[in-house]
Amino acid sequence: MDDKAFMADGAAGEAPIIMLDDFSSYDSAASVKAAYRGGAAEMKTAIVKSVDYDGCRAMRIESTRSGMAAAVCRRFDNALGAAAAGVTVAAADPGVLLRNGVLELAVRAELDGPDLARLTVEDAGRVFGDYFLLCPELAALKFFWVVFKVGRRNLIEHEYNYKLHEIYGGNPVSSTVGHRAVFVVSGLRLVSAPAAVGVIPRPNRVVCGGGCYVLSPRSAIVAYGEGGMRRIAGMLREMLSASTGYTLPVVAPDAAAGFVRPITFELNNAWQETLGSEGYRVVAAPGGVALSAASDAGLFYAVQTLRQLFAPEIDRGFSRFGERWAIPAVEIEDVPAYGWRGMHLDTARHYMPKKFLLRFIDMLATLKMNRFHWHYNDGTAWRIAIESMPELTASGAWWGGEQGGFYTAADVAEIVSYARDRFIQVVPEVEMPAHANALLFSHPECSCQKFTVPEGEVDTPEYFIKPRWISYCPSCEKTYEFIDRLIAANVTMFPDNEFIHLGGDELPPGSWENCPECRKFMAEHHMASEAELQRYFTARLIRIAAAHGRRLLGWEQILHDGLPEDAAVIAYYTAETAANAAGSGHQVVNNDATTNYLDYYQGDPLDEPVAIQGVSTLEKSYSFDPVANVPPELRFRVLGGQSALWTEYVPGERQAGYQLYPRGVAIAEKVWTQPGLCRWADFERLMNGFYRRLEYAGLNFKDYRENRGSGKK
Ligand code: ACM
Ligand code: ZN
Repeated sequence: MDDKAFMADGAAGEAPIIMLDDFSSYDSAASVKAAYRGGAAEMKTAIVKSVDYDGCRAMRIESTRSGMAAAVCRRFDNALGAAAAGVTVAAADPGVLLRNGVLELAVRAELDGPDLARLTVEDAGRVFGDYFLLCPELAALKFFWVVFKVGRRNLIEHEYNYKLHEIYGGNPVSSTVGHRAVFVVSGLRLVSAPAAVGVIPRPNRVVCGGGCYVLSPRSAIVAYGEGGMRRIAGMLREMLSASTGYTLPVVAPDAAAGFVRPITFELNNAWQETLGSEGYRVVAAPGGVALSAASDAGLFYAVQTLRQLFAPEIDRGFSRFGERWAIPAVEIEDVPAYGWRGMHLDTARHYMPKKFLLRFIDMLATLKMNRFHWHYNDGTAWRIAIESMPELTASGAWWGGEQGGFYTAADVAEIVSYARDRFIQVVPEVEMPAHANALLFSHPECSCQKFTVPEGEVDTPEYFIKPRWISYCPSCEKTYEFIDRLIAANVTMFPDNEFIHLGGDELPPGSWENCPECRKFMAEHHMASEAELQRYFTARLIRIAAAHGRRLLGWEQILHDGLPEDAAVIAYYTAETAANAAGSGHQVVNNDATTNYLDYYQGDPLDEPVAIQGVSTLEKSYSFDPVANVPPELRFRVLGGQSALWTEYVPGERQAGYQLYPRGVAIAEKVWTQPGLCRWADFERLMNGFYRRLEYAGLNFKDYRENRGSGKK
């Protein structure tokens, strides 16, 4: 709490209002003071403190006279937190309105009998006067206070709920306990600008309407056909059912009569021109929600946006009596900035259970990502069972005969199909010519070093990690015959892809020069360097991949003069690579290590679990720009971007979550949202709600919220 900055106000002779300005980034103390000026005089003395409600920062005003106390919240989540913590009155910070054209208002009033009688409409008007001025629609609150004043306590609840519910689709919960009337209005959100829509990645066009849409147990999901739309409608139904307790029917348009406030799907090829193959529209109005797109992928993303328009508790997984589910009236039209929106995950250095991979894919889907770059093999391990090559996993998947594991063909099929259902392509990476020890130990005939691991030594992780000088031998035809079989198996297991990733990175210098066969081959073919031999190797890979219907994708080391244009490059290491690749005619995916390598520390190394190197905080990750350093005329070759989690120092799913989130969320926004709309302050603010989504998804994460220390490790 910053108690240095404070302001004093109040008429001469009266006790001042003291506000500790804890919302420095919002200039909120001034805004709050303005809003409360009238009411504050009545309250005589108010002390404003910063408090933390379930992680949501808010200001609390405690009155010495009337018994009214308030928490002034700068966003909806804060108000919910305040309400949950039993704070008496919470109202939004008008600074949010002033700065962003947004009002997220939540009010909780809890007054005992005498205060109820004393409170006048004028009092209420003073308290909320600024809101009325700024937002005439809030006259509905007057209605609330009028009813309040006449004191028909038992009726208030119903009348108030009914009215607010009908007019604004708020999220009221109320009860009468003994002589105390308790009113909770949480979820009244009047939204007039994009920042109020707490969707990550931030949608590219948002027009806010008036009022809200409230889901009803008598709503229906309207979808037609038997294809993707119906399946997606079913997913929406599942997504909504656990937390709302409503089991909404999925009905055809001609069977929609009799249901209230429907959620309607529409697919129309004509929108291809404006929405492309992944864009969508969501129109939420008090009478219903329309989700439309030119493709199933677009409809799926519309559902993801709809889900995030609800409070994070939509993912909580159980229902609560009396809870209402409202979203702001809004029109969203959204098209991604890039076509390649990916996350890479290394399950070679440390095995991650299939269940974790499915949760990982769920989060990719939530973030509208469409590529899972699966680094399933490396020097340390080979982790996919290929029926015709059982030797690869027999020793290659285990340390000490116990640690490790591999994915069966059925696991892979399940993962690929689960991802496909969520419009995510799994891009397999088969590492070569280096980072392949685990595989080459069982195929020494394909390596320069011809190592087999002596019995007993295979089992130590060090054996796999340290000797990085085992390489495929590019000078031997057996190598290419084997690679052909390997690629064929991968193509069968990962059938959907345009690309196959064949590594290409970090061949230790000398690997080939020290091999008699390679030296001979280089001499015969007048190759002066290992780099030239790698060109030859890469050219052979391109031909094999093409014979299996795949384009080659590789780390930036495959880039060289004369690389066929068809091959695409993942830039990660040097700032110039993306520009060089695009300049030489190649498509490129940006995986800038300085911002997107999620194995980096994300804070003071003294305070963080052991990580590989560097520091990349959430804010630094958010500075990622997929086209940084790429001249405008070449940017069309940048397919997009991705993050990468290498797991040498990530021993399991718990730490994987800690490294992945929320930095991966930041990268997701940078590959979906147009750069001009990406704003760190908004992202940081919206992340507050998103942490709860991660919690409900059962994922570990680093908690960057204030007062949370350095989070869970
Ligand atoms: C890499 O970091 N070796 C791609
Ligand atoms: Zn060799």
